[in-house]
Amino acid sequence: MAIEKVGVVGCGLMGAGIAQVAAQSGFQVTVREVSQQLLDKGLQSIEKNLQRLVDKGNLSAADRDQIRGRLRGTTNLEDLKGCDFVIEAIIEQLRAKRELWNALDKICPKHTIFASNTSSLSITEMATFTSRPERFLGMHFFNPVPVMKLVEVIRTIATDPQAFEETLALAGKLGKTAVRTTDRTGFIVNRLLVPYLLDAVRALEEGVGSIVDIDNSMKLGCGHPMGPLTLLDFVGLDTTYYIANIMFDEFKEKRFASPPLLKRMVLAGWNGRKAGRGFYDYADPANPKPVEMA
Ligand code: CAA
Repeated sequence: MAIEKVGVVGCGLMGAGIAQVAAQSGFQVTVREVSQQLLDKGLQSIEKNLQRLVDKGNLSAADRDQIRGRLRGTTNLEDLKGCDFVIEAIIEQLRAKRELWNALDKICPKHTIFASNTSSLSITEMATFTSRPERFLGMHFFNPVPVMKLVEVIRTIATDPQAFEETLALAGKLGKTAVRTTDRTGFIVNRLLVPYLLDAVRALEEGVGSIVDIDNSMKLGCGHPMGPLTLLDFVGLDTTYYIANIMFDEFKEKRFASPPLLKRMVLAGWNGRKAGRGFYDYADPANPKPVEMA
């Protein structure tokens, strides 16, 4: 089946990135948000990204206009009825996802493949919110979506192999490298990344090194683009804490247990870059300063 029309539900950081990449890759895209205000914010971020590409000479103004023409924003879920493929990137709450998938299942035709961008919730459980578990899978993108080359494609025990292959092919058409994985909490990346990030917090807690020294160690010693504490600020401490708790619940392994400092920072609202403070202070965003902690 040819996938021509792609629906994206959620126009936050991830949804906007996915919608942008799909429109840039030639698909007709309908992106839906719950309110006009959130939709406008998401579409503005796409516009800003496209303009940056034009300013750098990486995209012509004519191509930008064509991309715009392929991208339609809406607050009406019914507008996704013509989509061949729908990617969900809404809030990580099972109840909200249940309502959404229940509704979409009635709106979209039988051939439409459903994919969730969740990083931690069970794809298998979400598939039960629809009448098409064989056409339901995970498609996990990475932030910033226009830049990061990877997509994890996740099959459940019920996913039809052909729907899985069609999704892998779609990821390729979006210019991404797809990896195949199964519905185990954290998939591949977070299974490896989350214990690493938690260990960086433990190292800080135990006085093994300062914030800057821990970050520089992994940046300069291992060639990572960001040190782990900068990456935690970038991903969001609350998000990482949330994912770690779900992983701990699933595997009952110590390596997924959140260190007390991470929990305290989340309780204090020091959730990273988006909150203006995490391991670094972003009062001057271009020049973050490590935070002194008692
Ligand atoms: N949107 C679009 N493009 C962006 C962008 C954004 N938000 N941020 C940066 N870019 C682009 C820039 O325009 C620039 O493009 P050109 O090369 O064409 O000029 C390029 O990315 C590099 O950006 P910068 O020079 O500003 O900065 P940088 O070299 O430090 O790269 C970075 C920034 C790409 C974010 C890099 O630091 C990086 O790769 N960091 C690690 C990110 C990471 O690990 N992401 C995964 C997080 S885990 C996750 O998402 C999933 C989960 O479940 C938790």
